[in-house]
Amino acid sequence: MQESLPHPRRHPGDAHRRGGALDTASVTAVILAGGQGTRLRPLTYHRPKSIVPLLNVPFLAYQLALLRQHGIRDVVLSCSYMVDEVRETMGDGDRYGVRLGYAVEVEPLGTAGGVRNAVDLLGGRVVVLNGDVLTDADLGAMLRFHADRRAAATIYLTRVPDPTAYGLVELGAEGRILRFIEKPDPAQITTDTINAGAYILERRLLDRIPGGRMVSIEREFFPGLLADRIAFFGWVADHYWLDIGSPAKYRQGQLDLLARRVATTVSPAGALADGRLSAEGISMAPGASVARPSLIGAGSRLGAGCRVGPSAVLGPGCAVGAGAAVTGAILWDRVSVGDRAVLQDCIVASGARIGAGAQVGAGVVLEAGAVVADHARLAG
Ligand code: GDD
Ligand code: MG
Repeated sequence: MQESLPHPRRHPGDAHRRGGALDTASVTAVILAGGQGTRLRPLTYHRPKSIVPLLNVPFLAYQLALLRQHGIRDVVLSCSYMVDEVRETMGDGDRYGVRLGYAVEVEPLGTAGGVRNAVDLLGGRVVVLNGDVLTDADLGAMLRFHADRRAAATIYLTRVPDPTAYGLVELGAEGRILRFIEKPDPAQITTDTINAGAYILERRLLDRIPGGRMVSIEREFFPGLLADRIAFFGWVADHYWLDIGSPAKYRQGQLDLLARRVATTVSPAGALADGRLSAEGISMAPGASVARPSLIGAGSRLGAGCRVGPSAVLGPGCAVGAGAAVTGAILWDRVSVGDRAVLQDCIVASGARIGAGAQVGAGVVLEAGAVVADHARLAG
């Protein structure tokens, strides 16, 4: 099921992108946002992974900003799980300076099937992003690399200490891809370069993806390109890169954004402890303190003598009780923290209530609406 993209709209700052060496305005993008976010449960029970908040902004906003920064304005969200929530949050993309279309799968079609399902909304050269990758990669440089080599397909590659959770990629001369092994066994590890989950594909390649069934881009489509000796290249870069698909990495991504380790044009929503941003309706009782870097959502109330931060993110409408301490923790909207409770390096979803004097420790992830009893102790 597909819907057409709305009419083009120009945004301030568009002009300087036109007429450059490479016309990125004709490039369209598809973001794979249909996964169930299993590893991010329980956060993804009520909200799909693609729109979990990072610094109180839905994740996809960071990817749209990156695409926009590199002149790409037409973006298709390839969705299946909880598509209504994605659509409600992201809308037609106007707020993000892009034109959004939606390609919706009734049954999940996999990472290649999800691209194929969007084909009628895509142009001649297609950027594909996994919908959970936080990066400031220079997509313009990647597009030039692709064009210079007359590649049919190019993958963004990054280096990690342990490739077993990723797609391992072996490179040959001039960056040609020799092997692609999804989720390799430890015995298969021959390199530290992995698929960073961003691709450039010539549209004609999409005809290779069979319709009507689940097809994996990593396990079927890429090995097929290699078998048929298609011009398939890897672009290795060491920009900031993180797959936010596990609780630890989802939290880390926000600490990295707070510490400005990621170059992005997205502004956090709320008041930053360093005073760079403000937000409405925040109240601080006497003796309450906020240590930087931290972000406090609009309408949050901080009780007497409480300590928030460093590295804390409070969503809008949170309440922190007197004498409580919140450090390294990510709180979604409307979380209430009881008097003298201690939250450290944990994640708490919308509307959860932490009792007075409770302790919530590193690695704990509390789902929306969770209730923690007074003086309870939770460890990850
Ligand atoms: N539309 C659609 N349909 N999207 C899907 C489907 C589907 O059936 N299944 C998964 N996706 C989306 C997910 O929402 C996610 O954004 C993206 O595809 C990748 O799925 P993950 O489940 O996050 O894969 P992964 O992290 O284990 O591995 C992938 O990413 C690694 C980099 O982070 C692979 O591409 C690896 O090769 C890669 O190294
Ligand atoms: Mg992932």
